[in-house]
Amino acid sequence: MYQLNLGELSLADFMQQYWQKQPLLIKQGFKNFQDPLSADELAGLALEDDVESRLVECRDGNWQLETGPFEDFNRYGDKDWTILVQAVDHWHPPAAELIEPFRFIPNWRIDDLMVSFSTPGGGVGPHLDQYDVFIIQGEGKRHWRVGMPDASLKQFCPHPRLLQVTPFTACIDVIMEPGDILYIPPGCPHEGISLENSLNYSVGFRAPAQKDLLTGLADYLLDNDITGKRFSDPQRSLTGNIGAISEQDLDQVQQLLVQLVSDRDKLPLWFGQYITQAKHELDQQEPDPHYQAEEIAEYLEEGSVLARLGGLRCSYYQANESSDIQLFINGTTIVLPAEEQVTAQLLCDSKRIDQQQCLHFTAREERLLLLTDLINQGLWYFEE
Ligand code: SIN
Ligand code: CO
Repeated sequence: MYQLNLGELSLADFMQQYWQKQPLLIKQGFKNFQDPLSADELAGLALEDDVESRLVECRDGNWQLETGPFEDFNRYGDKDWTILVQAVDHWHPPAAELIEPFRFIPNWRIDDLMVSFSTPGGGVGPHLDQYDVFIIQGEGKRHWRVGMPDASLKQFCPHPRLLQVTPFTACIDVIMEPGDILYIPPGCPHEGISLENSLNYSVGFRAPAQKDLLTGLADYLLDNDITGKRFSDPQRSLTGNIGAISEQDLDQVQQLLVQLVSDRDKLPLWFGQYITQAKHELDQQEPDPHYQAEEIAEYLEEGSVLARLGGLRCSYYQANESSDIQLFINGTTIVLPAEEQVTAQLLCDSKRIDQQQCLHFTAREERLLLLTDLINQGLWYFEE
């Protein structure tokens, strides 16, 4: 278990003063930090087909980028390269624990845990990200510089798949040591150069762009065969300009679109499904054979503990205390009766359902059946 130590700063102060506003260095944010994985384990993940990884190397000012899966790392020498592995929380339960201290931000805003291993001189160069990130220093030391957003900075590509930014003025300039944490809001230029072999853990957030929302909504309409209203114009009068698209026509098209997206009642179902879809492969393994509900009840009553599959996205929506709960798990919806708030919270709020909490599920048959189904899909599992 990792515990975030903000010193004098409360979480409420952090949200008010820093979140999405300015970068913050949290010295020893994790006291006595122990790496949840080794560089060798990370390298092992980068050999896997299902795992997204890339290697960035800079030799004499010449940037190179290769994407995984890799066969081995023998040819890269002992300096000036970094390997970055995406969604490590999906594959490595101890590493996934690093996300938990940041769950003061809603689940749906959390993206994944990216882990990088860098040799001395290694880094991805100065750049901007579109998302908030907490970068945790693991083993080794790394020199980090972070600046404030600056419209005069220019982005450029020293390699077709590497976006960097022109030199910036740093407001944080620090040599990070194990357990130190950097919070970087979107748009703040930053650069980390490794001083020795080092591991960095990035808890990244997501913030959908209008384009993504619209595309997601369009997919939802297609999948559910929702046509919506069609353009109609019984009020049209005769025109001589048949080649022209009139202002009036455009107003009506705009109105049709606005009507579609302003149906607030339909929003939760679509958004909940959309935002809980997995972006990266999940390590989902169905138990074979499937469990019977009675077996699960027995294990739970004997004191077994359940863990949620790494990277599984879960959220819920309840319009008011007396309305049904829409529980969104991995892009699907389960409707629960209004009084099942605790069930939704136990599934969504934490990665683990402890011994005491498990008994909540054995107390009612419907809950036990729900849990049995989730376990049989490989979405929750008995922790050893
Ligand atoms: C890294 O870990 O090397 C890159 C992290 C970042 O800059 O977002
Ligand atoms: Co970055």
